[in-house]
Amino acid sequence: MLIKRPNGLDLPFSSEITPREVFESRRSFMRQIAAGTLAGGALLEMANRQAFAQGINPKLVSKLNPAYSAMDKQSAYKDATTYNNFYEFGTDKSEPAQNAHTLKTRPWTVTIEGEVKKPMTLDLDALLKLAPLEERVYRLRCVEGWSMVIPWVGYSFSEIIKRVEPTGNAKFVEFISLADKKQMPGVGSRVLNWPYVEGLRIDEANHPLALLTLGMYGETLPNQNGAPVRMVLPWKYGFKSAKSIVKIRFVKEQPRTAWNLAAPSEYGFYSNVNPEVDHPRWSQASERRIGEDGFLAKKRKTLMFNGYNDVASLYSGMDLKKFF
Ligand code: MTE
Repeated sequence: MLIKRPNGLDLPFSSEITPREVFESRRSFMRQIAAGTLAGGALLEMANRQAFAQGINPKLVSKLNPAYSAMDKQSAYKDATTYNNFYEFGTDKSEPAQNAHTLKTRPWTVTIEGEVKKPMTLDLDALLKLAPLEERVYRLRCVEGWSMVIPWVGYSFSEIIKRVEPTGNAKFVEFISLADKKQMPGVGSRVLNWPYVEGLRIDEANHPLALLTLGMYGETLPNQNGAPVRMVLPWKYGFKSAKSIVKIRFVKEQPRTAWNLAAPSEYGFYSNVNPEVDHPRWSQASERRIGEDGFLAKKRKTLMFNGYNDVASLYSGMDLKKFF
């Protein structure tokens, strides 16, 4: 990443968190710029084509949003890309990284429909250009009790809401992932009802922290992390952040979401990170930070809303034990 970090905390340099071949491809690209053989808007285009040709993730230019970035030490790129939940590619943490190469992420479109004045279908280039890309370092806390800290790239989902102009009937937003057996071996299994569906109340979706995500670690999303476009909702358990989204619907009624349908007593619609509301089968009071799991590593205390207290006003007056 070509971004200067505020206060220079103990964050790794890009050469330490980026695979070597990606880093070196950037260096050769930089040499071409220095030699004056590339110019203007062609630069990024050219770098991306080079990266595609080499089977690596193209770089994304973004600006760090310090107000919305955690100062925690970032997770290693390797952990973030090999320890995943993406049941469309298998239920083991290692399977998405092994299997997701079959996902074809270009061409890709996202259809936005339902209770909106301006329904639209956006391709990836349109999504990338829709609003300035920001880098936000978010903690992501999985309902299973582990967490990571990842520099995501995207913009607030509210940018989309503004453009489609929801009608007065739009009370919820539904996010629908691709479910294609040909590309996704897990979709043949009955572990969940496909497609994977997630949802938010419209005011939650409008909160600036809700990130429409197109990249991580300064590059487009790896397939196993939900390429080419996903949500990241840092104050909610990780399963609320749907991956590889193809449809977004603005609706009147609360959506029936994949995990809620599978086990309603275990996975509520809201699923805000809350150390005081245990999962029926385990405590949610603490978490294991991936990468800190050495012999002597202590578990961390889980924070209300995962530490994102900005969102508290969305839930004022609600009983969060009932609306878990
Ligand atoms: N989205 C889809 N389509 N399918 C999934 O299985 N898993 C969820 C969420 N989004 C999932 C999904 C869960 S349980 C988590 S914890 C996060 O993705 C994991 O995101 P990561 O692998 O990028 O850390």
